Amino acid sequence: MMATLKAVRGTRDLLPPETALWNYVEATARAVFARYGFGEIRTPIFEDTALFARGVGEETDIVSKEMYTWEDRTRADSDSAQSLTLRPENTAGVVRAYIEHKLADTGMLQKLFYIGPQFRRERPQRGRYRQFWQIGAEVLGPAWSGADSSLRDAEVLEMLSTFLNEVGVKGWKLEVNSVGSSTDRPRYIAALREALAPVKSRMSADNQRRAETNPLRVLDSKEPGDQEIIDGLPKIADFLDDASKEHFAQVLAALDACGVAYTVNPRLVRGLDYYTRTTFEFTVPDGSGLGTQNALLGGGRYDGLSEMLSGPKAPGIGFAIGEDRLILTLQAQAAAAVEKKLDAFVAPMGMGQNAAALALAQELRRAGLAVEVGDGSFRLKKSFEAADKLARRMVIVGEDEVSSGILTVKDFSAGEQTKVARTELVGFLRA
Ligand code: HAM
Repeated sequence: MMATLKAVRGTRDLLPPETALWNYVEATARAVFARYGFGEIRTPIFEDTALFARGVGEETDIVSKEMYTWEDRTRADSDSAQSLTLRPENTAGVVRAYIEHKLADTGMLQKLFYIGPQFRRERPQRGRYRQFWQIGAEVLGPAWSGADSSLRDAEVLEMLSTFLNEVGVKGWKLEVNSVGSSTDRPRYIAALREALAPVKSRMSADNQRRAETNPLRVLDSKEPGDQEIIDGLPKIADFLDDASKEHFAQVLAALDACGVAYTVNPRLVRGLDYYTRTTFEFTVPDGSGLGTQNALLGGGRYDGLSEMLSGPKAPGIGFAIGEDRLILTLQAQAAAAVEKKLDAFVAPMGMGQNAAALALAQELRRAGLAVEVGDGSFRLKKSFEAADKLARRMVIVGEDEVSSGILTVKDFSAGEQTKVARTELVGFLRA
């Protein structure tokens, strides 16, 4: 017997009524981002592998072990192949598009947002999938557009706090840090390596490996036995040059002016190589449906990314919200009751009334009402049950109703039955 086919591990189907919540979240994001002057960008779901190797960084977990990469042949029998990768994130793609379409020539600050799936071959668990959705945005441009200003960092963070409040997330927390300039970071990594050398043998196997390959990753380790050592490691704040310190102080001052609460977390270095200066994450409290995956969104500044991709200098800052995690949070916090009932269920009494019922539904739908039609084969009791599940009211279409033009409408919440003239039905159902 052939095995039944299922969605691949780490991927999932999104079905109604849950998709209504996804649409609500996306509509809210679009509405909020529009108020801040963002426009939508849609980049391809797969890109040249080199984009992520150079942009996100060869040594990161994402590039070294989580990408879906394949050799794509120009022809089936061809030897020449191009290495392609399903995008694990979208910042590199947006910056590639910025360079490719010479958006710098506009001289204007670019404010771009995106909504779409990303792919990482991680171990699946609650809030962590192999295909997941991000709602993200990037602000970038030539230096003379003000793209490197601390005002932009604060504006993006203030927009996120507004979005989370409007969409209905409760108890979120903002953590911020500065990882300094592209010269501060290597100095700090060298200091970390030095500090880790004499103590790493006392750490977990995972952290021993990270201490070798990517010492910054040690800082986000949650391994309980290693926390004391990690707390004693050098802090990035002590390695920032004066310009980065000043920039960070300005970001914090602007957040204070806007009343956006935050905590500075010196261990927040994030797992992608392109970050410079400001980095941040928004988390939700335990019990918000995310288990251990409590980072709802993350982002930061990437002043050197365009040059890493052979583009012009184009400082920028952005973020990506884990949409799957945002949905889980809203469900757990029961914040948004968006499951909406239809305006009416049209119930034909007998097969002979099907055509008349469909014509009535057509009329109501044209008037903008959300309507479902039953079937003449249903007994009255079955029509009532189906209608009660789906709609606020049921409209009965029988022989008498059709000849008299007076319809019987059952209202489920009021529990009453009313006679309504067909000419007044739309107005009645809207009320
Ligand atoms: P990231 O921290 O790798 O940053 O991902 C951002 C968010 O995507 C995470 O906080 C999380 O909510 C969600 N996420 C990541 N991996 C998964 C997964 N396997 N399953 C479910 N959700 C996940 C970035 O991707 C950067 N591009 C953000 C950015 C934009 N930085 C500057 N601009």
